[in-house]
Amino acid sequence: MDASDIAKPHDRLAAWLADDMVAVNDLIQTRMASKHAPRIPEVTRHLVDAGGKRLRPMLTLAAAHLCGYEGPYHIHLAATVEFIHTATLLHDDVVDESGQRRGRPTANLLWDNKSSVLVGDYLFSRSFQLMTETGNMKVLRILSDASATIAEGEVLQMTAAQDLATDEAVYLQVVRGKTAALFSAATEVGGVIAGAEDQIVRALFDYGDALGIAFQIVDDLLDYQGQSAATGKNVGDDFRERKLTLPVIKAVAKADAEQRAFWSRTIEKGQQDEGDLDHALALLHLHDALEATKVDALAWADKAKIALGHLPPHDLRDMLIDLADYVVARVS
Ligand code: IPE
Ligand code: IPE
Ligand code: MG
Ligand code: MG
Repeated sequence: MDASDIAKPHDRLAAWLADDMVAVNDLIQTRMASKHAPRIPEVTRHLVDAGGKRLRPMLTLAAAHLCGYEGPYHIHLAATVEFIHTATLLHDDVVDESGQRRGRPTANLLWDNKSSVLVGDYLFSRSFQLMTETGNMKVLRILSDASATIAEGEVLQMTAAQDLATDEAVYLQVVRGKTAALFSAATEVGGVIAGAEDQIVRALFDYGDALGIAFQIVDDLLDYQGQSAATGKNVGDDFRERKLTLPVIKAVAKADAEQRAFWSRTIEKGQQDEGDLDHALALLHLHDALEATKVDALAWADKAKIALGHLPPHDLRDMLIDLADYVVARVS
């Protein structure tokens, strides 16, 4: 598959959902306003107007249409999901001390941590207001559960950072929480609002879960081998933050005594010098850790595709299947 094929599923999805996405973006613009605190729209606009891939709201819209939904509330749900995502990004960049997001300096850098935390809280609250408008208790439960799970994943990651004993099982738990929970909630609520049967809703959940895991594994690869111009984020953030992401876990598992001392100094003790990121990358290559990580991402993408096999044929189903390839292919 070459790059031109890879770009297509995301674009095809955006084209199919174009009218809906206009409505979602309008709703986001309206609801990010604040009567009394101008700092809120300033910070939010900085992030929202920079774009982002809008993957999660498209998942909700696609899932709802796949299940034949004809009502208005998929728009609210898609906007809710993107609001939750935006709130977590504001908080995440504070926690990760990141300096670049969506090709722009982060809000914590341009304003300060306090603004990012508080505006993030505001957006979380706005997302809850939005979803109550659907009047559907089931989607409220799914999205509020997902919000709790995301926070749990971020906290688990924080406590697992700097610990070389972190294994792939803990990593999976972190990734399922901080990232896949919102992907699976995004697809699940699309099915639920459409009143789809349990088996279909389950398939949508499984697709979102596996897609989200594949997506985060690839994001973690890109943190080592991506181009900042393409990702809109700084490379090397995870190493600097001493995170045990999958490539590092795999390389640590194969490290000899000298290499282990390197990981212990840089990750456990946090004593990092110039050239250490390059050396870390060399060790990842030496043990084929990047390649092995990509193989894992591909396996999750396959699981995502298999889950969609339970859905009836539909153009959108095919686009979602291709999207699973696309999220992994963006790393090549
Ligand atoms: C970033 O998500 C956070 C992760 C889960 C890695 P996206 O890469 O979807 O961010 P935007 O919305 O496109 O900027
Ligand atoms: C993303 O985690 C998950 C959330 C935002 C909750 P990361 O910290 O790995 O994502 P990036 O690389 O900053 O986008
Ligand atoms: Mg981060
Ligand atoms: Mg993070």
